[in-house]
Amino acid sequence: MSLLLHTALGLSPDRLPRLALGTFPSPCRRLHNLSSVLGVELWLKDDGTCNSLYGGNKVRKLEFVLPEVLRSGASAVLTLGAIGSNQAVAVGAHAGALGLQVTVVQCLQPQTPHVTRNLEALKVLGVRRVLAGHQHDLPFSVPVEWLRRFLDHGRPPYFLPPGASTAEGVLGYVEAALELDGQLDPHTPWLVVVPVGSGGTLAGLALGKALFSLGWSLSGIAVTPVWASRRGRIERLATAAHALLRAKGAVSRAMPALDFELRYDQLGHGYGYPTSAALEAMALAEQVEGLVLEPTYTGKALAACIRLARSTHRPVVFWNTLSSTVPGNYFFPDVSTACQGS
Ligand SMILES: Cc1ncc(COP(=O)(O)O)c(C=O)c1O
Repeated sequence: MSLLLHTALGLSPDRLPRLALGTFPSPCRRLHNLSSVLGVELWLKDDGTCNSLYGGNKVRKLEFVLPEVLRSGASAVLTLGAIGSNQAVAVGAHAGALGLQVTVVQCLQPQTPHVTRNLEALKVLGVRRVLAGHQHDLPFSVPVEWLRRFLDHGRPPYFLPPGASTAEGVLGYVEAALELDGQLDPHTPWLVVVPVGSGGTLAGLALGKALFSLGWSLSGIAVTPVWASRRGRIERLATAAHALLRAKGAVSRAMPALDFELRYDQLGHGYGYPTSAALEAMALAEQVEGLVLEPTYTGKALAACIRLARSTHRPVVFWNTLSSTVPGNYFFPDVSTACQGS
């Protein structure tokens, strides 16, 4: 199926295959209640509902990643993340639906109700879990597991890095940048805000904004420490996606300069540790908009949106990257009872 990206770059869909997993464009609307309670201008770009089994930001990435997995001939996918990883659930749901066996090597993170829900989802989806313990153990555990999968399947598993942030995955958010641009009034000084974990979402939006000279400002809210989400890493991901487009003959010019801001003021005690600002933002969003978020990514990003809308007096677009459904969703806890943070 043809996309905005294909049309804008004059690229035929067979040169850049995409598996249509999501319903796009995702909705973009003003958050009337939240805006009036807070006295600011907040909008929502909602990727949460783009797939009824499991939505969120991985769907756009997997639309470009999974054709590459199939092309490689692999029968299994190996990925990694923390125990509450949304990526593991997304890969389990969408790669699993293609008959691929999914294994995730996991490290620990603070336990929250959202983490428990995702662990339950992995069980329902039949994802193999290997617990590595601390994140520093991952570089040892992942190659060992890769070898095990290789020996079991007789061919190498497809390795998917954290967040499905590959060159192909980043293209999902280049497409999304074009999509959002068509939904925004071009005369308004928008500030678009996304959470930053592995950086693929931000890299794609920044590359799309640069390639097509899109006018809004872009701010990434780091929820992982600087070694995982640093600027150089985002630039490298965007450059890899640009190189992929170049290899397909879709762009001829050199890598454009990227224009985005990266903020670390919502990280609190670190990845997965809820902050009081995130928990407050989540409780308010649920109460006045019925918008359910979690404290690792989207709660922190919404807290940043509120702060930025107040300090800049600009209309802020909050990009909801969280799936609004979870396979095997057996309970939905009150967010205000989640763990304490800074
Ligand atoms: C809900 C949610 N939002 C945002 C992100 C961050 O996206 P990225 O890894 O592309 O920076 C993730 C990553 O896992 C996520 O699960």
